[in-house]
Amino acid sequence: MSSHPAAVVAGTGAHLPRRVVGNTDDPLARLDTTDEWIRSRTGIKARRWVEPGESTGDLAVQAGHQALRSAGIKGVDLVLLSTTTPDHHSPGTAPWVAAQLGLGTVPAFDVAAACAGFTYAVAAGDAWIRAGMADSVLVIGAETLSTITDKSDRGTAVVFADGAGAVVLRRGTVEEAGAVLATRLGSDGTQKDLAIIAAGGARWPEENQTAARGERCLRMQGPQMFTHAVRRMTEVSRMLLETVGWQVSDVEAFIGHQANQRILDKVADLVGIPPAHCLGNLHRVGNTSSASIPLVMDEAVRDKSVSPGARTLLTAFGGGAVWGAVAMTWPDIQVSH
Ligand code: UT7
Repeated sequence: MSSHPAAVVAGTGAHLPRRVVGNTDDPLARLDTTDEWIRSRTGIKARRWVEPGESTGDLAVQAGHQALRSAGIKGVDLVLLSTTTPDHHSPGTAPWVAAQLGLGTVPAFDVAAACAGFTYAVAAGDAWIRAGMADSVLVIGAETLSTITDKSDRGTAVVFADGAGAVVLRRGTVEEAGAVLATRLGSDGTQKDLAIIAAGGARWPEENQTAARGERCLRMQGPQMFTHAVRRMTEVSRMLLETVGWQVSDVEAFIGHQANQRILDKVADLVGIPPAHCLGNLHRVGNTSSASIPLVMDEAVRDKSVSPGARTLLTAFGGGAVWGAVAMTWPDIQVSH
């Protein structure tokens, strides 16, 4: 049997800022909310936020460095940085991250697909590798959502958090542990207002007035977002299972974007994945948008909680609206960090 080329996960990395913010810590303590409400409605007990001066790029460099070390390589052919919170509107943050990592003049660009960004970036990296455009790709999901949330808005301030996760993809074959077997992506731009930073872009250039009114912050229609997230993550997971020819009972590890525990439980239930096969860290880490899946992956690699080769399904939904899923086998990575 001929062995088909595939992108194979060869290393993982993660980095969380040091500052831990519990549900009753400032500034959340000043909101009209309770620890009980946050725990029961979201599953979150604590999250990490950056200190002033610490940026998305800084977190990305740390996670990227670990992923390269974990893969045992010093260079890659492409850097993809998924983020909703780039260091600047322009230029992209990926080239700076690549330079900090000593990767020379390698191509590097940002992927803007909100909370589904990691699935988009993995799909892009996979395609570059299978098309022969790259032999290795560093994919990073990095976010500092605390820099774009309004700390007086209880609908977002309690949910969103900061962190970075990364994987190295290298050219290999579908038979290898860690192979990306299929990806599936989608979008629905008619839902762009579900989660939006209204001001500061070309449609509404920044003025002091708008900044004062808080339109430079992320606004989310929580319940509507919830409904769309459940529907799309369920749908795309089912479609991808069909694409790879797996029964749902074949899935040994399921990692959904860590948005809200109730969303994750609902999606797993609808798709038919038992709780024992669901991996997550939402209670400790909060919703870190496109960093959430690689953060969980790196933890599970370090914990050795999933066996190499185990059939794994990743799925995510985010503002845009955008969604995506990745079917892969669990990587075989020596833990040295
Ligand atoms: O990462 C991208 C994907 N993200 C998502 O998909 C997020 C999806 N949405 C959510 O996770 C949830 O909608 C939230 C956590 C944001 C909100 O939870 P919810 O259960 O959907 O609450 P709700 O917005 O329907 O509000 C229910 C009640 C309201 O009060 P009334 O009108 O019933 O009196 C809210 O004002 O809870 C109130 N509420 C809160 N109360 C205490 C909303 N936020 C809070 C809060 N503390 N933090």
